[in-house]
Amino acid sequence: EEPDVRAAVPQAGDPSLVLLRRVGTVDPASLDDYRAAGGYAALRRAFQLGPLGVVQEVAEAGLVGRGGAAFPAGRKWAAVAGQPDRPHYLVCNADESEPGTFKDRVLMEGDPYALVEAMTIAAYATGCAKGYLYIRGEYPRATRRLEHAIAAARARGLLGDDLLGQGFAFDIEIRRGAGAYICGEETAIFNSIEGYRGEPRSKPPFPVEKGLFGKPTLVNNVETLVNVLPILLHGGAAYARTGTEASTGTKLFCVSGNVPRPGVYEVPFGVTLRELLTLAGGTSPSLRAVLLGGAAGAFVRPGELDIPLTFEGTRAAGATLGSGVVLVLDDSVDLARILLRIAEFFRDESCGQCVPCRVGTVRQEEALHRLSRAPRSEDVTLLREVGQAMRDASICGLGQTAWNAVESAIDRLGVFPAPSPVPSSPEAS
Ligand code: NAI
Ligand code: SF4
Repeated sequence: EEPDVRAAVPQAGDPSLVLLRRVGTVDPASLDDYRAAGGYAALRRAFQLGPLGVVQEVAEAGLVGRGGAAFPAGRKWAAVAGQPDRPHYLVCNADESEPGTFKDRVLMEGDPYALVEAMTIAAYATGCAKGYLYIRGEYPRATRRLEHAIAAARARGLLGDDLLGQGFAFDIEIRRGAGAYICGEETAIFNSIEGYRGEPRSKPPFPVEKGLFGKPTLVNNVETLVNVLPILLHGGAAYARTGTEASTGTKLFCVSGNVPRPGVYEVPFGVTLRELLTLAGGTSPSLRAVLLGGAAGAFVRPGELDIPLTFEGTRAAGATLGSGVVLVLDDSVDLARILLRIAEFFRDESCGQCVPCRVGTVRQEEALHRLSRAPRSEDVTLLREVGQAMRDASICGLGQTAWNAVESAIDRLGVFPAPSPVPSSPEAS
């Protein structure tokens, strides 16, 4: 059994706690508790609005994907809803595997009915009769709680043939991953569910057109889906007033590493990295860097803590928000060792389907091994060439981003500085 993750509530009753408001306050096994705390009001609202009305609210809210890529959810939902080919499928991506990411786990363990309700609303809006919840195999507690929640919802007519007597049929099946990071890539999920090797497919066609079993498929991350509940309860326009124009609502951040209070924090988009770290207990003068966005992300220097935590703000600062990883590193950490660990991870998790990633991740790790023993500018040059080839020519996001963190450590943090030229001897001149 995994240890608990702290779901940090900055101040009890904080109105910014939109997604975490029930976590730690309701019994995750009790459907009655969930309903008493406002559960299933959003589904009733969805039935009032009708499928098109729900899609419009999501679009108006400006909701973008929380898995890491920030694609507009309303556009995805409208694209699936509009496909004439049937059936449509819903896939909830709960294969949360980005190193340093544990927010979906907190939502699923602490408020499992919220995800069941949100999936039901997404299916209603986009015309899906069947939903798959693809969950990370290393999350046994979340899996158990969701299995229980799905069974309880089914027993009460909240899943099944005729939900709440509205003539709408929808059910959810849980599929467990088997430990492969690549199975969190949306098209690898399809292959995994269909019984094939978990390898990504080339896009386009995008899943909205040809996804699971070749049918139009809506794929959303857990956190993205759960956001639909406040959007329907308060309205898309009201939701969009939190955060910034391009990053609306709140975001769950996974703060870990050298901070006094690691955990999951919910804050409105736009707070600065410094403000978030203050919630987690602050940083020490020995802060060396913060890795934003996980293994595929970028390092931020101690002098850059005032960057706003928004998709646009981090992009402008040459970093990325990704799925919300905030890994704090002080000077007790050997950065070369961290980079090697990241490189090992990508080499290990590459599915091997395409050459740039299969070979590039091996070459990257080898060069980092050599650099950790002795800085050589040839190896930094090699890393850049290999990294660019992976970025340009890999099939999926794993290969395309496998060099991001290493590149930012070299360029922003100055790891592996070029060795100083050996002074020439008087005899040689
Ligand atoms: P992507 O940018 O290819 O796609 C994002 C989403 O938008 C996908 O669902 C895609 O189907 C859809 N999409 C893109 N263009 C479209 C179009 N023209 N029409 C319709 N739909 C379209 O990104 P990808 O590869 O899905 O995700 C990459 C992100 O995943 C990275 O930013 C990384 O941070 C994150 N990630 C998260 C992990 C986690 O554990 N949460 C693990 C690994 C990566
Ligand atoms: Fe597989 Fe890497 Fe190619 Fe993605 S980029 S398909 S993980 S080999």
